[in-house]
Amino acid sequence: MKKIITLDGPAGVGKSSLASALAGRLKLAYLDTGAMFRAIALKLGANAVNLSETELKQSLSEFTFELSGSGAETTLKMNGVAIGEEIRNEEVGTMASKIAPLELVRNALREQQQALGQKFDLVAEGRDMGSVVFPQAPFKFFLDASPEVRAMRRFKQLKAQGKPADLIVLTEQIKTRDAADRNRPIAPLKPAEDAIIVDTGELTLEGVLDVLLKKINQ
Ligand code: C5P
Repeated sequence: MKKIITLDGPAGVGKSSLASALAGRLKLAYLDTGAMFRAIALKLGANAVNLSETELKQSLSEFTFELSGSGAETTLKMNGVAIGEEIRNEEVGTMASKIAPLELVRNALREQQQALGQKFDLVAEGRDMGSVVFPQAPFKFFLDASPEVRAMRRFKQLKAQGKPADLIVLTEQIKTRDAADRNRPIAPLKPAEDAIIVDTGELTLEGVLDVLLKKINQ
């Protein structure tokens, strides 16, 4: 079996930065499964939830993901094209969380995620990496922080990038997405039974990274 480390948690908890930093330290590829949901949501568009089962199956069969590189230099491609900044906004995040409860979407992506896990040693990041996709992974982490802390982090990030940001709107968007991710009947956001839960509220990225590396190297 390939070496797999799973990192799950709610929106805005810092999973992507942490997963890519952790993968860099361990010289593993980094699998951003949220990016897979986002890329598909963006391609299918707002109408995705209204497609018939046959149409959705057909569309999903046309998406193939590939991975290359490691750490922050990992590239995730969909149908040969690197997934980029076009998926990195709250609107696409919300679209992704609308298609994420669809069983056909989850099954198609789980198959592709598991296939990548057979080819590469990975830090796999998402919502159900430890609980559903890689239940046999030797290290499973679940990162958490309050919606207010997560919204504030995102607010500061956007401000630092010179982008418009509204803290109240961001907090509401995060709470809505949390509710959708936690309450869906299929693969709801929750820690795997054997996951190590890390409260990131008081910690910097380096601080969380230290906690994870200590557990892995124990
Ligand atoms: O992590 P990120 O915010 O990029 O994920 C976007 C959305 O994709 C999440 O809100 C969630 O609904 C969905 N997702 C999921 N399972 C994963 C990764 C993401 O359901 N493994």
